[in-house]
Amino acid sequence: MTILVTGGAGFIGSNFVLDWLAGCDEPVVNIDKLTYAGNLENLASLQGDARHVFVKADIGDYDVVLDLLKNRHVRAVVNFAAESHVDRSIHGPEDFIQTNILGSFRLLEAVRCYWNGLADAEKQAFRLLHVSTDEVYGSLEKTDPPFSESNQYQPNSPYSASKAASDHLVRSYHHTYGLPVLTTNCSNNYGPYHFPEKLIPLCIQNALTGKALPIYGDGQQIRDWLYVKDHCSAIRRVLAEGQVGQVYNVGGWNEKANLDVVHTLCGMLDELQPRADGKPYAEQITYVTDRPGHDRRYAIDATKLERELGWKPAETFETGIRKTVQWYLEHQDWVNNVLSGDYQSWLDKNYAGRDA
Ligand code: NAD
Ligand code: TYD
Repeated sequence: MTILVTGGAGFIGSNFVLDWLAGCDEPVVNIDKLTYAGNLENLASLQGDARHVFVKADIGDYDVVLDLLKNRHVRAVVNFAAESHVDRSIHGPEDFIQTNILGSFRLLEAVRCYWNGLADAEKQAFRLLHVSTDEVYGSLEKTDPPFSESNQYQPNSPYSASKAASDHLVRSYHHTYGLPVLTTNCSNNYGPYHFPEKLIPLCIQNALTGKALPIYGDGQQIRDWLYVKDHCSAIRRVLAEGQVGQVYNVGGWNEKANLDVVHTLCGMLDELQPRADGKPYAEQITYVTDRPGHDRRYAIDATKLERELGWKPAETFETGIRKTVQWYLEHQDWVNNVLSGDYQSWLDKNYAGRDA
């Protein structure tokens, strides 16, 4: 048997592929368009490993996807491929519509065609797991209960709106065509191979290179943080045991204000790699103009996943952040390779207009 992973050269997808092949020998076909966020270096340890087949392709390429599904006799698809950065969606929503909505739609069509042609037993066993985000539920007030699977969808950014659309399409393909789908909605991930445009890796790197640590607005926005390997274990559990057609929220029970996250990072760097001048990294914290439409709080209620499938995160925020900071300190080559010309122009676009 074989699984097909999309977006497996990105942050979560590459962690998933690496963990999957560390845990079993079932081959992975990995489709990735290699946008700015896709990086084959994440998968360098799999070079020459026949269990991993990489194909540079767009999930919206119906013919390529259908051929791969047929030729590789795929028994499950895990869909990570997406445009994933809220700030980029504000500067240019088009790519988000193309990949997250149209790309997901074409992927669903290819999967539906393949699935229709399977023998009954294979049809029953087949799964499409769609990886989504808690951001589709919108923003919570301070005292609201965390998001459960029955929360209304209220996406507020072009990113979350495009993910919401893909979630709805996935749901409809189950309801209408009987496609055996599963959806996971996860909170903010962090860990190895996280692209340094996102808060945690950006602040680690800016701290180490003496740059400002940009805090949007008052820094009191709350996110629920989950170590990426815990997200991957949740996906494996849902894929193996999830009930077809169901949605599972995935979270780390780690609600933190952004400013507290950055202070935690600074404290850890003070301990592991103190500044040459002996001053605390927190001195580099700088308040900048807020993100337009910035959601105030996300929080995930992951009790369904624990109750029904027995999943719990293995890491606390403290253990996960320590592993993450250590990983970045030990993988400065990886970071430096990512900091290409494209990355620089993104920083100019996103931060130049924000007053310090
Ligand atoms: P990422 O941006 O790091 O990686 C996305 C990957 O998808 C990249 O390798 C990119 O090249 C690839 N890709 C983009 N468009 C494609 C296309 N049209 N065809 C094929 N490949 C394409 O994203 P991530 O953080 O790894 O997120 C993966 C998934 O998990 C996304 O669907 C995202 O919405 C979801 N998610 C992310 C988080 C988070 O905190 N990062 C939290 C919850 C859910
Ligand atoms: P981010 O990592 O972009 O993830 P998301 O927007 O999907 O939650 O941002 C996490 C939080 O950190 C979010 O509230 C925005 C904030 N943030 C900053 O304060 N400064 C920054 O430079 C970035 C990139 C994010």
